[in-house]
Amino acid sequence: MADTVAIDDLQGGVRLITLNRPEKKNALTGAMYDAMREGLAGADASDAIGAVVFAGQPGMFSAGNDLADFMGHAGDGFSASPALAFIRQLARTRTPMVAAVDGIAVGIGATLCLHCDLVYASPAARLRMPFVELGLVPEAASSYLLPLRVGRLKATELLLLSRPLEADEAQALGLVNAVLPADMLVEQAIAQATRLAALPRGALAASRALIRGDQAQVEAALEAEAKAFDAQLRSSESQDRLAAFLSRSKPASSA
Ligand code: COA
Repeated sequence: MADTVAIDDLQGGVRLITLNRPEKKNALTGAMYDAMREGLAGADASDAIGAVVFAGQPGMFSAGNDLADFMGHAGDGFSASPALAFIRQLARTRTPMVAAVDGIAVGIGATLCLHCDLVYASPAARLRMPFVELGLVPEAASSYLLPLRVGRLKATELLLLSRPLEADEAQALGLVNAVLPADMLVEQAIAQATRLAALPRGALAASRALIRGDQAQVEAALEAEAKAFDAQLRSSESQDRLAAFLSRSKPASSA
C-alpha cells in the first residue's frame, strides 16, 4: 500500500481511507488509485467492514488526477489506467461509502462524492470539475449522475463551464448532507459510517441498491466516458492544457 493513502480499520466496522499527499494537494497518482481500489475491494470482501469513509487532509480533499501522471500516460491512454480501474471499483462497491470533504475537491475529488452514500463537507469545501477546461470529458459516470441529481442545466454549468461549487450551494443542490465545522468533519463522517455498519447487512445492501437505482446505467455511462476521455487525453487540446498547468502558463486560446 502506498503511504500516500492510509487505510485504517476502526472499531465498529468502519474502514477509513485517508489521502495523504498534502504537498501536491492530494492529487492522485496511479499508486494512490491502486491503494484506494484495493481498500474498497477489500472492504467488500470482508465481513468485518460495514462502511468506508474517504477523508483528505485539512483544507484539501483532493486536487483530482495528478496532471503530471496524465501527461506521462497519454500514450497508454485512459482505458488501462489505475484511475479507470479505481472508478470501476468505486461504481460497483457494495459497502456503503461516506465522504468527508474539507477544502478543495477537484475532478475525481468531486465526482467520487457522487458515488458516496453520505457526503459531509466543511464550510471551506469547494467542488470543481474542470474536465472540459482541460480538454477532457467528465468521468466516473458524472455525466449521468450529476444531471440526475441536480438537473441538466445546473450540471451543464458545473461540467461544461467548470463552475466551482461552495459547500452551502452543494448542500442546497443535494450533493452534500450537511456542512460541518472542519474540526468535527471526519469524526462525524465516521460516526455516521458506524451507524450504517451496525445496520442489518442484508437489509442495508438491498435498500442501498434500491436507492441507488440502475447500476447498469452507471456502468454504461462510465465506460462511454472512458472511451471519450481516452481519445481526448491523446489530443493536443488536452496535452496543451495539461502542459500549461504544469508550466503554470496559459495557452493563448484559453485567455
Ligand atoms: N496534479 C499534479 N500536481 C498538482 C495538482 C494536480 N492535479 N494539483 C496541485 N498540484 C501541485 C502543484 O503543481 C503544486 O506543486 P509544486 O509545489 O511542486 O509546484 C502543489 O500541488 C500545490 O499546488 P498549488 O497550485 O500551488 O496550490 P493552490 O492552493 O494554489 O491551488 C488547486 C490548489 C487544487 C486549486 C490547484 O493546484 C489546481 O487547480 N490544481 C489542478 C486541479 C486539476 O485540474 N485537477 C484535475 C482535474 S481532472
